[in-house]
Amino acid sequence: MISPCLDLGFMMIFNDILPTFIRSHKNTPNMSSQFIDKKNIHIPKIGLGTYKMTGKEGQDAIQNALEVGYRHIDTAKMYENETEVGQAIKNSSVDRNNIFITTKIWPTDFDLVVQKTEDSLRQLKTDHVDLLLLHWPSTTEMNDRASDSLNEVLHKQYAKAVGVSNFNILQVGNALERAPIVCNQVEYHPYLSQEKLLNFLHDNDLFLTAYRPLMMGKIMDDAQLLSLAKEHDKTVSQIVLRWMMQQKDIAVIPKSSNSERQIENLNVFDFELTNDEMQLIHQLNCGERTTDPEMAPQWD
Ligand SMILES: NC(=O)c1ccc[n+]([C@@H]2O[C@H](COP(=O)([O-])OP(=O)(O)OC[C@H]3O[C@@H](n4cnc5c(N)ncnc54)[C@H](OP(=O)(O)O)[C@@H]3O)[C@@H](O)[C@H]2O)c1
Repeated sequence: MISPCLDLGFMMIFNDILPTFIRSHKNTPNMSSQFIDKKNIHIPKIGLGTYKMTGKEGQDAIQNALEVGYRHIDTAKMYENETEVGQAIKNSSVDRNNIFITTKIWPTDFDLVVQKTEDSLRQLKTDHVDLLLLHWPSTTEMNDRASDSLNEVLHKQYAKAVGVSNFNILQVGNALERAPIVCNQVEYHPYLSQEKLLNFLHDNDLFLTAYRPLMMGKIMDDAQLLSLAKEHDKTVSQIVLRWMMQQKDIAVIPKSSNSERQIENLNVFDFELTNDEMQLIHQLNCGERTTDPEMAPQWD
C-alpha cells in the first residue's frame, strides 16, 4: 500500500535505499521496555509534549497527565509554560523525584545558558531538570560556546543530563567533543525516517527523542496505519507510538490536552507489532517534515 506522501520520483530513490534502511533497523520485541537507561539516567520512553499547553487549562491538562501515569514532561523556555509545568507538578500527587523533566535553551540565549537555566529552574520550582537541551542550533561558534556551558550546568547540578535538539550530524559531533550530551530531540514519525542521523546517534550511544510523532494529527488518515490499527484493535496513534517503542533508544513525547487521548497514548505496552509490520511502517518514509524553519540546519 502506498502512503499518500509518496510521489513517483521519491519512490524510485526510496526503492534504492530501502534495503540498507531495513538492515540498519533491527527491531526486536524485547525493545519494548518502558525506559531507556543511558549513562546513569533512566528515561521513561513516553513523555508528554507540552507545546501550546499554557494557562490554567494547560496546567490542569499537565497535572491530569501526571495523575494518569506520565512520568516524563517535555517543556522549553520558548513554550512559555514552565510556570504551568512547575505548578502542575506541585499540585499533583506525584513526587517530583519520580518525574523526568526536560527543558530547552533558545539559541538567542546561548551566551547565557547558566543564567537562563537558573530562570527555568525558578519557574519550574525545582533545583534541577533531568535533561537540558539546546533547542535549535545557532552558528558554529555559538553552538560551541553553548556546548561548553552545558558542562557548567552539569557541574552546578542544574541538570542531570544534557543534550541538543534539531542538530544535524556535524553539529551533534561537534557538541559531543565539548560536552557529554546524551540525546538529540528531532522530528521523527513514519513519514520521516531520520536514517542517517539515527545510525550516527546509535554509533555514539545517544538516544533520540521523537517530537511531533503524530504529525499534529496528519498521520491519522494513513491507510496502512489504519489497517494495522484495525488488525490490532488499536488506534493509529497507538500503532505509531508502539512502532517507536520497539526501536532501539527512542523516546517519544506526544502532546495531548485531552485526558482520554493522554491515556490512549500511554497504553501501548499490551501488544506487539511483528517484524513484518514494523517494516511496513518503516516503508511509509517519504522524508516529510512538518518543522523546517529558517533557523533549521542543513538536514542529513
Ligand atoms: N524540539 C523541538 O524543536 C520541538 C518541535 C516541535 C515539538 N516539540 C515537542 O514535541 C511535542 C509533540 O509535538 P506536537 O505537539 O507538535 O505534535 P504531536 O504530538 O505530533 O501532535 C499533537 C496533536 O495531536 C493530537 N493528538 C494527540 N494524541 C492524539 C490521539 N491519540 N488521537 C488523535 N489526536 C491526538 C493533539 O490534540 P489534543 O491535544 O486535542 O489531544 C494535538 O493536536 C511538543 O508538544 C513539544 O513538547 C519539540
